Amino acid sequence: MIPFIAGNWKMHMTNEEGVALARRVRDLVGENRDVEIVIAPPFTSLSDVKRAIEGSTIRLAAQNVFWEREGAFTGEISPPMLKAIGCEYVIVGHSERRRIFGESDEDVNRKLIATLKEGMRPILCVGETIEERRAGKTLEVVRRQVDKGLQGIHGREIKDVIIAYEPVWAIGTGETATPEQAEEVHCSIKEWLFEGFGFEEAKDCRVIYGGSVKPENIDALMAESNIDGALVGGASLKAESFARIVNFRHTKT
Ligand code: PGA
Repeated sequence: MIPFIAGNWKMHMTNEEGVALARRVRDLVGENRDVEIVIAPPFTSLSDVKRAIEGSTIRLAAQNVFWEREGAFTGEISPPMLKAIGCEYVIVGHSERRRIFGESDEDVNRKLIATLKEGMRPILCVGETIEERRAGKTLEVVRRQVDKGLQGIHGREIKDVIIAYEPVWAIGTGETATPEQAEEVHCSIKEWLFEGFGFEEAKDCRVIYGGSVKPENIDALMAESNIDGALVGGASLKAESFARIVNFRHTKT
C-alpha cells in the first residue's frame, strides 16, 4: 500500500494560475512512483490541469460532486462529467462543505456511492470540532461520519475509498493534531473498518490525515504506523512546500 498525498486547492487559483502551479508540481515530483500524488483544483481548471499533468504520475481529483448523473440541477457537476475529463478521485464530505453548505451525512453518502459507481475513488473526509473534542466525543462523532458515509457500499469497494481524518479545529488554523492524537483516531477507524468489512477487504483502505499539514510536521505524522498519507490544503498552494511534503522522510517502523 503506497502512501497517498493529496493537495486540496480549495477556492484558490484561476485557470491560468492553476496550470502554472500544476506544471511546477509536475516538474518537482511528476515522476515519483513511491507516493500516490493527487491534486484537487477547482472545477474551472480541472481540464487544463489534467493536460498539464498528462504523462506524469500525478492524478486528478475534484473537490466535490453531485450524486445525480444529469438533469435540472443548476450549478451542480455530475460524476460522469468529472470522469469524462479525467478525474480519478473526488473529495466528499469536506468539513467546509458540511459546515458552510449544510451537507449531511446522508448527502455525503450519496456522493460517495455515486463516485464509486462511476469508477472513481472517493476521499471521504471526517473529523470532530473543537467542542466535540473537548466534550470527549471525538470517536463517537468520527464513527458516525464513517459509518454513515460508507453505508451501503460493498466489501470489495472499500479498498477504493480513502478516508481523510481532518479534525475541524486543525484545518487552516496552523494547529495540527499531534501525531499521537491523529494515530489514536486512525487506529480506531481501521478497527471499525476491519469489523465492518473484514480484514482482507479493508486492509488496503488508506486512512490519511489532514489539518495544517506542512513540510515541518509531515515526517512526524508519516512516522505513525496508521497514518497512510495526507490531505494538504494551504501548503499545497506552493509547489515547493507540496513537493517537500510528498518527499517526506520514510521513517515508518
Ligand atoms: P489545511 O487544509 O492544510 O489548510 O489545514 C486541509 C484541508 O482542509 O483539507
